[in-house]
Amino acid sequence: MSLNDFERNGEVVYTVSEWENYARLHASVTTSVQLALYRESCKHLSGSVVDCGCGSAKMAPLLAGQASVTAYTGIDYAQEMVSVARQVVQTLNRSSFTIRHNRIEDEVGQFDGAVSIQSYYAWPEPVVTLKHIFDLLVDGANFVLATPNRELCLEKLLQDAEKELVAHPDFGAFKHYNLKLAGNPQANFISMDGLIRQVQQAGFRVRECHQQHFGGGMNFLVLRKET
Ligand SMILES: C[S@@+](CC[C@H](N)C(=O)[O-])C[C@H]1O[C@@H](n2cnc3c(N)ncnc32)[C@H](O)[C@@H]1O
Repeated sequence: MSLNDFERNGEVVYTVSEWENYARLHASVTTSVQLALYRESCKHLSGSVVDCGCGSAKMAPLLAGQASVTAYTGIDYAQEMVSVARQVVQTLNRSSFTIRHNRIEDEVGQFDGAVSIQSYYAWPEPVVTLKHIFDLLVDGANFVLATPNRELCLEKLLQDAEKELVAHPDFGAFKHYNLKLAGNPQANFISMDGLIRQVQQAGFRVRECHQQHFGGGMNFLVLRKET
């Protein structure tokens, strides 16, 4: 086991290499269901935005097209994700858009808004990570958090996605890899109630929450830092 792996109570949750191996596929395939989630997240973000567990930075092109967003910092712990994310950001020609190879929990700085999509379920100590994100934000900042719950039916979502991506050369591998990642018994697919308790423990106020994305399988929360 590598020191870089993500551990919860001494158990590896996801190995870094699982994320490294996912990087190219993650960048290559985007389903309409994912896109809808990214688009709703963007609506709540402005100023300098930190993307916690940014993966291949799929949010960056969307945020670059939004006049209210002045800067973007994507943070990810997997080097391959970081490399792909840097290629994505380079295409945007925005000097204030950067990617940092770091653990969320080790990041420093002050941001006007934060987003974290489909990363929470791999965090070994979620409240510690949530508290750290709270500390990275200015007073009045929004934090958009989206993470799957136990109702997620990935097989059905992927079946639907296949209709729109049927000829995509990477779709088969994308489907297989997603099922493998979601099948990890250590994945922390939490209820909305449980998640609300944790974000409140970290200091956030819940502004909005719903489960309308991913066929009901995604907890979507808009949180606010108010001190
Ligand atoms: C499924 S990907 C999601 C990527 C992106 N947020 C999206 O929705 O397109 C999850 C990412 O979270 C990253 N990650 C998980 N825990 C992390 C941590 N503690 N610090 C930094 N990155 C983390 C992984 O390396 C991986 O790239």
